[in-house]
Amino acid sequence: MTHSGTRSAAPLPGGITSTSIEEFDLGSPETFARHDMSAFWRTVRAQRPVYRQPPRDGVPGFWVVSRFADITAVYRDNVRFTSEHGNVLVTLLAGGDSAAGRMLAVTDGQRHRDLRNVLLRSFSPRVLQPIAERVRANARRLLSEAIERGECDFARDVASQIPITTICDLLGVPKADRSFLLTLTKSALSSDERHTDPAASAMARNEILLYFGDLVEARRSRPGDDVISVLANSEIGGVPLSDDDVILNCYSLIIGGDETSRLTMIDSVATLATRPDEWRRLKEGDATLAAATEETLRWATPTMHFGRTTVQDVTVGGERIPAGEIVTLWHASANRDERVFDRPDHFDLGRTPNQHITFGHGPHFCLGAYLARVEISEMLAALRDLTASIQQTGPACRIYSNLLSGISSLPVQFVAESRRGRR
Ligand code: HEM
Repeated sequence: MTHSGTRSAAPLPGGITSTSIEEFDLGSPETFARHDMSAFWRTVRAQRPVYRQPPRDGVPGFWVVSRFADITAVYRDNVRFTSEHGNVLVTLLAGGDSAAGRMLAVTDGQRHRDLRNVLLRSFSPRVLQPIAERVRANARRLLSEAIERGECDFARDVASQIPITTICDLLGVPKADRSFLLTLTKSALSSDERHTDPAASAMARNEILLYFGDLVEARRSRPGDDVISVLANSEIGGVPLSDDDVILNCYSLIIGGDETSRLTMIDSVATLATRPDEWRRLKEGDATLAAATEETLRWATPTMHFGRTTVQDVTVGGERIPAGEIVTLWHASANRDERVFDRPDHFDLGRTPNQHITFGHGPHFCLGAYLARVEISEMLAALRDLTASIQQTGPACRIYSNLLSGISSLPVQFVAESRRGRR
């Protein structure tokens, strides 16, 4: 039996009106669990491209920006918009981010430029080459094992292993500590489950920070060529980065790079399992790996939104927004904007051009984009070369979040390819 369905997501009833738009609470994970939001976003883009979700139940109101051009304009402007009050709804609505001014993603101005320049030393394609080679070997090994087993949960058995291993390589986490760290990150970051234990998550987060604290100390005295060593032995304006700054920024690589890449890989398998024509295009080389990777990233859009706060009055898409307001930028909508993408609701592995906004835009453009692209493209290459077909064998389970979109469990069966190893 082939399953293509996922838990819950029901389409919205048609006839969303510009007044009913405000009834959808975009701050609540429940909204995304209950609805397939594509009809909602289509209506929003057409009728209320920039609107304000009103405050409700003591939670502040916020602006919603849905069109590609308006979102990129906000992203480019880090003078009238700041990330230092948080860059996702959960922190923006809570009134700020405690890592502001220290963690790259929630730091602006000169400090952001300096910190980004320090980190960029570890993120150039040249430095990442050996890590990329390990991604390739790892993807092929995990997929081969899954094929041999017959059935597997692609999310758990394959996808969950790749990004975290890659980040551990990047940070130079010793092999012996990795399974310990993996268990902690699972517990610390299980934000995607409906019922999580916040105390256990907080404890795991603390343990991760303590663990990195020990590594920082070791790398100050005996540096290697990993990110921790680079950060621990860097100065900004003649002042060395503090232990806390190093630790926070190491931690941010796990937060930024693990779940996002994982969800994209899982989505690619779920999507290809239901689209035999596109699968054939990939297999037959009709769609290049590069184009297929970009379409996979556009289609999955694992981070549905990011956000900013206005520091002065601004106009976005013709709407006047006063200073001090939360402005959310919806990638989930921009990546389907019919003003930018031809047939946006069509999964087209050969799509070119494909200027999606999955990695953001402007000064905070994703630092890990190259690495994420390597991970996705190596997974697609492994699927293409090692498997003849993919069948979903049970229902997928969608994650529960107002930020991340995707699947946390995907039972599949891979049929082995008889011809071996292309490329
Ligand atoms: C920033 C998405 C993978 C590290 C961002 C931003 C987006 C994004 C949209 C911009 C946030 C903003 O403007 O507020 C993604 C997606 C990924 C991915 C969809 C995978 C498919 C990674 C990986 C790493 C990483 C693999 C590192 C190992 C970062 C960091 C920033 C960032 C450090 C902050 C950059 C800055 O503020 O200058 N990411 N990311 N990301 N990402 Fe990623």
